[in-house]
Amino acid sequence: MNTVSRLSSALAVGLALGFAADAAGQGVARECPQPRFTDKAPDEYYNRPNPLTATEANLAEGERLYLGDNPRRVFCATCHGVKGDGKGPLSNQFDPPPRDFSCDKTIKDVPDGHLFWIIRYGSPETSMPPHRKFKDEQIWQLVLYLRHLAR
Ligand code: HEC
Repeated sequence: MNTVSRLSSALAVGLALGFAADAAGQGVARECPQPRFTDKAPDEYYNRPNPLTATEANLAEGERLYLGDNPRRVFCATCHGVKGDGKGPLSNQFDPPPRDFSCDKTIKDVPDGHLFWIIRYGSPETSMPPHRKFKDEQIWQLVLYLRHLAR
């Protein structure tokens, strides 16, 4: 293969994978659904339904926790992006990349109890950190907010 065709096939692969630069110039995959290799939560978490409903108050609290209140600290949005599209300022550094919650196809069939488990304990072998300080109620509010981002 000559250099030109090698370059153009690299470009074709890049386009097929949906790479696109955002306003900050970051090249982050925008596949939807996003490939997902995340470990499954143990059954006792996986099958737990969210005891809360998507009231305005619960969503507002979920949003507050997701966005954080101190720009110098790392919160969900630092990795997952303010809109939940997986394109936060740190997102480029991680393999696998942060989940894109704005893509409904990726997480619509992932149960609430699994999301709860990942938020509390992190995703093993990835950069998704554990958040052990959150109370159950706060994690469920975050789960509601993640679902809300998918709309
Ligand atoms: C340091 C960056 C970082 C931060 C901060 C972070 N995440 Fe993640 N998150 C990731 C990465 C990377 C993945 C992908 C892990 C994987 O593929 O298993 C991920 C995956 C997830 C998943 C897994 C979804 C699934 O498909 O199973 C959930 C849920 C999640 N994050 C929620 C959150 C929430 C809520 C917060 C804030 C409380 C948060 N994350 C903070 C990087 C981060």
